[in-house]
Amino acid sequence: MKALPALCLLLSSIACHAETPQQIRQAYTMEASAQQAGFTPSAKRGEAFFHQRFAVSDKMPACTSCHTDSPLNAGQHAVTGKSVRALAVAANPERFTDTAKVEKWFGRNCKEVIGRACTPGEKADFVAYMSEVR
Ligand code: HEC
Repeated sequence: MKALPALCLLLSSIACHAETPQQIRQAYTMEASAQQAGFTPSAKRGEAFFHQRFAVSDKMPACTSCHTDSPLNAGQHAVTGKSVRALAVAANPERFTDTAKVEKWFGRNCKEVIGRACTPGEKADFVAYMSEVR
């Protein structure tokens, strides 16, 4: 959640609760560019990241553990069994329209799956993939 005020600042003129996937991707891209000059988000890298397996958790080794192999599908929580709606914008237009929600879930899920926070670049790639996958 620490990145949230910075993100809201980057989005300056826009109310911090009515956003678009494009604006959220843009904010992460700006944050990533500050660390790595010329950073450009890549849906392809985002896709690879979505499928990548990490060695931190047996129950949830990858984003796909709860979100399934396709972000176009509804998923199921690996621990609670609760259903999770599709992550792809094409399947669920509410995705990536609320910075606070996006930051909350990146925070929680990256920590559980990868054992650390996702970088702004990883987030930009992820949003790019979720926005473009059909
Ligand atoms: C333990 C199950 C689980 C795993 C593993 C998981 N997620 Fe999620 N994710 C959820 C749940 C639950 C929600 C919130 C419910 C919802 O929005 O449908 C969510 C929502 C999100 C959102 C919010 C998107 C939006 O705009 O609504 C993002 C971003 C996200 N996850 C990213 C990831 C990433 C990145 C990974 C892999 C590093 C990952 N998740 C792995 C369960 C999981």
